[in-house]
Amino acid sequence: MSAPTFIFSILLFQLLFASQPCHLILTSAADDQWQLLQKNIGVSAMHMQLLRNDRVVMFDRTDFGPSNLSLPNGKCRNDSSDIALKVDCTAHSVEYDVFTNTFRALMVQTDVWCSSGAIMPDGNLVQTGGFNDGERKVRVFRPCSTCDWQEIPNGLAVKRWYATNHILPDGRQIIVGGRKQFNYEFVPKNIAANTFNLPFLSETNERGVENNLYPFVFLNVDGNLFIFANNRAILLDYVNDKVVKTYPTIPGGDPRSYPSTGSAVLLPLNLKAAAIQAEVLVCGGAPKGSYIRALRGRFIGALNTCARITITDPNPQWVMETMPLARVMGDMILLPNGKVLLINGAGSGSAGWKLSRNPVLSPVLYLPDNENGSRFETQNPTTIPRLYHSTAALLRDGRVLVGGSNPNPLYNFTGVLFPTELSLEAFSPGYLDVKFNNLRPTIVASNSMSMIGYGKNVTVQVVITDKVVQNLVSVTMVQPAFCTHSFSMNQRLLVLGNDKVTALGKSTYNIEFTTPGSGNLAPAGFYLLFVVHQDIPSQGIWVKLK
Ligand SMILES: *[C@@H]1O[C@H](CO)[C@@H](O)[C@H](O)[C@H]1NC(C)=O
Ligand SMILES: *[C@@H]1O[C@H](CO)[C@@H](O)[C@H](O)[C@H]1NC(C)=O
Ligand SMILES: *[C@@H]1O[C@H](CO)[C@@H](O)[C@H](O)[C@H]1NC(C)=O
Ligand SMILES: *[C@@H]1O[C@H](CO)[C@@H](O)[C@H](O)[C@H]1NC(C)=O
Ligand SMILES: *[C@@H]1O[C@H](CO)[C@@H](O)[C@H](O)[C@H]1NC(C)=O
Repeated sequence: MSAPTFIFSILLFQLLFASQPCHLILTSAADDQWQLLQKNIGVSAMHMQLLRNDRVVMFDRTDFGPSNLSLPNGKCRNDSSDIALKVDCTAHSVEYDVFTNTFRALMVQTDVWCSSGAIMPDGNLVQTGGFNDGERKVRVFRPCSTCDWQEIPNGLAVKRWYATNHILPDGRQIIVGGRKQFNYEFVPKNIAANTFNLPFLSETNERGVENNLYPFVFLNVDGNLFIFANNRAILLDYVNDKVVKTYPTIPGGDPRSYPSTGSAVLLPLNLKAAAIQAEVLVCGGAPKGSYIRALRGRFIGALNTCARITITDPNPQWVMETMPLARVMGDMILLPNGKVLLINGAGSGSAGWKLSRNPVLSPVLYLPDNENGSRFETQNPTTIPRLYHSTAALLRDGRVLVGGSNPNPLYNFTGVLFPTELSLEAFSPGYLDVKFNNLRPTIVASNSMSMIGYGKNVTVQVVITDKVVQNLVSVTMVQPAFCTHSFSMNQRLLVLGNDKVTALGKSTYNIEFTTPGSGNLAPAGFYLLFVVHQDIPSQGIWVKLK
């Protein structure tokens, strides 16, 4: 093409498309905001789970001395095996009500420290393990405004501390690993021998350091489980107790699991694709040796790389990317529009009590569909360090709830470098800025949506003030995750297929879409459903997939 022809082509292109809205320029870092929700909820939000009634259950540990929140009605926990306080009249768990911004004390009986959990298909939180008298407990929290924890003694076959849970298509949970546990089991138990050896967990266990705890577990679209520990991963056929694939080591070989805590997400699953692919993104962590050095008072810079892999590929390879900020103990949260938020954590050191320095106050957004080299956007900083034991969770209104950090023994607030942090904040991504309200869908007719089946065509009605750009509308579903130790278990986002927009009148549209085709794509249970228009999500609605 000659130069004049080329320039003419560009002009023609601009003439033809100048009137089209561009969907890449909408939000910028300046639009995002932080909000302090609560100065002091009395306990440290070491573990966090959003429930289908828009309340968030949080807890720290019971053997930590008195918290800053009394149990109601003069109740006390009388626990002869507690190592800090045999009779404790304070709470170590709270239920936070998102829309009234209030909280109430819950009574957890046994030690839930460094435990794990998942929401069952009926919407109950089933949480497992912990320390000391809690190590083999299964605990159930039913969402209701007066409900409290119920405990099942010996609900686990073995003790589980720092394990990872995942909900399965058959409605059970799998619980993988934990300290000195190189095996997995299922809850509820339905066979006598319920523990299965997993040599991968001993192979990735570094003597004296571990680096394989809280493994990153994701349900692949073929029904197998992707399990990442330390610096590599396998694909486990848990039905036949067989490793069906071994993935390469992440280039560089540095560890990414606790205590070299990075984080990971299963990137949004696009159900519009003819062949559905699954990709995993692992970000941050601490270079090999960081934990031992931190114990000796040397705080090594955290990793600044992410590694991305298509786990459904016949010949999968990690591809490396560089983050604008190095981060250990970050949380990775899938936002309703399919972007990934990296939030919380430290710039140096390791996971563990008092073992990190240089809080990373600025979150970073990762845009998975952008070109390599333009995927990261640094966001506005908070003022509150969120180090070891901090958490984050997506809320139905699109905000991200943030809490926890560095609790000190006896909830020490003075004489320590990072005092115990009992506050809650909300991070509002740029898409919540009021200047996007004209683009924002509002879901109006949703009653029929409370229960949806698999592989069904369903219609949701929305109001959008501005003219709708048809091919920039999508419907997403997000499974609420159990967050602790920089990993959100069961976090899953689906971009639903066959979305078709029909105008019903000014500003009102029907959006038809197809629900997920199987439990391998989306295990049964409660999801938040969002309609996204030009990257701006609606508020979510709760749907039950059955
Ligand atoms: C919580 O802390 C406040 C001051 O920060 C104190 O007045 C209150 O007594 C504490 N409550 C409990 C139950 O420890
Ligand atoms: C706690 O339990 C022990 C043993 O059951 C009992 O002797 C003691 O009186 C109880 N203490 C309180 C404060 O309830
Ligand atoms: C991204 O670019 C870097 C160099 O800038 C390269 O090392 C890396 O392999 C690229 N990753 C992808 C996803 O192409
Ligand atoms: C808090 O930590 C400081 C410094 O180590 C110590 O002097 C103080 O006694 C601790 N307070 C409590 C309540 O443990
Ligand atoms: C759903 O709609 C799509 C496209 O409009 C169509 O191909 C498919 O057969 C429909 N599925 C069902 C279950 O009706």
